[in-house]
Amino acid sequence: MTALRCFSVCSLLLLNASAGFGDLRRPENVSMDSLNTRYVLRWDWPHETAANQTVTFTAQYIQEFRTQKKNYEKYWKSVCVNVLEHHCDLTGAALHYLGIYLLRVQANTSQQTSGWVQIRFCPDKHAALGPPSSVTLNSVEGDLEIIITDPLSSTNQSMKTLLDNRFSYHIQYWRRSEEPQTAKVLETKNNVVTLTELDRQTWYCVRVQSRDDFSEKSSVFSDTHCTRTEGQMPYWQIFLYFLISLLLLLYFCFKKMFPLLKNTFCPAIQLPDHIQEVKGWKCTKIKWHQLNHSTAAAEVKL
Ligand SMILES: *[C@@H]1O[C@H](CO)[C@@H](O)[C@H](O)[C@H]1NC(C)=O
Ligand SMILES: *[C@@H]1O[C@H](CO)[C@@H](O)[C@H](O)[C@H]1NC(C)=O
Ligand SMILES: *[C@@H]1O[C@H](CO)[C@@H](O)[C@H](O)[C@H]1NC(C)=O
Ligand SMILES: *[C@@H]1O[C@H](CO)[C@@H](O)[C@H](O)[C@H]1NC(C)=O
Repeated sequence: MTALRCFSVCSLLLLNASAGFGDLRRPENVSMDSLNTRYVLRWDWPHETAANQTVTFTAQYIQEFRTQKKNYEKYWKSVCVNVLEHHCDLTGAALHYLGIYLLRVQANTSQQTSGWVQIRFCPDKHAALGPPSSVTLNSVEGDLEIIITDPLSSTNQSMKTLLDNRFSYHIQYWRRSEEPQTAKVLETKNNVVTLTELDRQTWYCVRVQSRDDFSEKSSVFSDTHCTRTEGQMPYWQIFLYFLISLLLLLYFCFKKMFPLLKNTFCPAIQLPDHIQEVKGWKCTKIKWHQLNHSTAAAEVKL
């Protein structure tokens, strides 16, 4: 199987095919920037070299198995020829997803040509997987229905179809009032999923990640979507909320009224100095009696 061969042998090797070229510097940091089946080859160029000359680049690719034959040079296909940019879009080349390719890039001025810089690229192993192209969340009678649209290839083909049964979705869901780290997870191959046994009248958030189970690739998460579950709240919950509201109301009422009550029942009278020395007394009707005792005690001491 092509894919298996790719996985057993392939690591993004950097090979230098040199000899027989001028001394123009090669492009550096050649890498593939990929998402689903969009492939863009990128490289750097040290600007200080050949400062006064126009430098252009040529990128080519070949299926690796062809290089096992003689005279395979003719099978290299050029994608970008003498371009000024430091990237080349290979999306249109329609590389087979399970294929193994060699890609190479060369710098060129009117007088000199650099050696090629070559990398190995297996889309199945190296290409990044995209998140679902859309996620919709519906509240259905106390449950949550998640509708997931597959990530799409450059030709709008489903990546799920391309990866067949290796493809799955990793769903995270959590109460909005809590942190996403506390999320519950759900693995599925379905595009419509219903979350049940949720709290009623509660906001939930959901995000989804695409996964390739075989190559252990996973996409970034989709945007987070939140919605509130419907359904009747249980009576005990309604009662609890009522009770909490009532207690809060009473508390604030009392807090507001307290200074008023204090002024009414405890007018600010200038007390004699020796009474003020008595510590810890509180201004209530009852305490007035205690105060008299304390005053007596203080007088006894004196
Ligand atoms: C290649 O990448 C390295 C590390 O990111 C960087 O330091 C270097 O400048 C890059 N080369 C060029 C020619 O930009
Ligand atoms: C670039 O051109 C300037 C004059 O236009 C010259 O002095 C300089 O040596 C040239 N540099 C290179 C790298 O050829
Ligand atoms: C190098 O690039 C120039 C354009 O900058 C082009 O005219 C020339 O044919 C190229 N040479 C090779 C060997 O590709
Ligand atoms: C893919 O779908 C998008 C949006 O529906 C559309 O704009 C684009 O042209 C399509 N591309 C191809 C290659 O069919």
